[in-house]
Amino acid sequence: MSSSLADDLDGTAVSYTATAHPSLALVKYWGKLPGGVNLPATTSIAVTLDQLSSRVTVRAATRDRVTLDGAEAAVERFTPFFDAVRARLESSVRFRVESTNNFPTAAGLASSSSGFAALALACSACASPNRTPLSPSELSKLARVGSGSAARALFGGFTRWSRGAVAAEQLHPAEHWPELRVVVLKMSAAAKGVSSREAMERTRLTSPYFAPWVENNAAPALEAERALAERDLERLGTVARHSYLRMFATMLGADPPVLYWLPASVAAIKRCEQLRGAGVAAFETMDAGPQVKVLTIKDHLEAVLPALAEVSEVFTVCSPGPDAALGGSQESAPK
Ligand code: DP6
Repeated sequence: MSSSLADDLDGTAVSYTATAHPSLALVKYWGKLPGGVNLPATTSIAVTLDQLSSRVTVRAATRDRVTLDGAEAAVERFTPFFDAVRARLESSVRFRVESTNNFPTAAGLASSSSGFAALALACSACASPNRTPLSPSELSKLARVGSGSAARALFGGFTRWSRGAVAAEQLHPAEHWPELRVVVLKMSAAAKGVSSREAMERTRLTSPYFAPWVENNAAPALEAERALAERDLERLGTVARHSYLRMFATMLGADPPVLYWLPASVAAIKRCEQLRGAGVAAFETMDAGPQVKVLTIKDHLEAVLPALAEVSEVFTVCSPGPDAALGGSQESAPK
């Protein structure tokens, strides 16, 4: 049964707005520990992307309801998260959510990470307007219930989410490495056929390569952390490539196999290889979708951008982004 927005709102209808930026993993979270809610089997290391954003507005209402970029969303996907917020803040409030992304939703650009990070802030403010705000770590814990990668998106700059941890943590703020750039390519705006959640679980349950993937995660995570601390792009890019390629190896071993790549994804991977061969920093990574993101450095953009534009649409160029925050406006992702 549909009803108008006004029918659902309670008398007060104060609105709480929050903005967050997606968390791009350089060493991937892929697989959950059994028996918890989105507890990671692998330690992930990530960067928050400044030009992409999710903005949510939340109001108290008579029932939970969510619209994503103007379309009604299946509320069941959000219920465990809403329940966790209500339990934590001892509130019975229902949430009316309007969420917008300035990039394609569910197309492998980590929209659930920024969406749930923004929701953790806005829903907790709505559920308990008169108390001291929850700490970033508490908010990260709540966001994790919505989507694992959202635990990282609460924090700007560079983050670590350790195996089995209930919350992520910031390793360095964005200012640690202002010259770092992530070129976001758009191979397709179509929503992916298999969600990351389903693919991850299928991989855990059926892929013979899942156990070795988990066993071999500690060393790359540590290597990425050290490379980040030293701002060593060659080392960081190398370990990031290993991580995403091995993650895809586990998916190819699943039953039925999961293959997100498009011909344009492979073309971009090959183009990065050529660029590196010519001494240009271009280290690609991918997530649960066909889009390729390329790590580089400000001074190399001049060489990287035209080369990538020959094989794909350049959607935007990101720098390390800020913390998720209450309020905030959203602009379309500039090139
Ligand atoms: C490939 O965080 O979307 O982007 O916890 O089931 O919601 P759920 O999964 P999600 O998975 C992200 C997977 C990834 C890698 C990463 O972000 O670390």
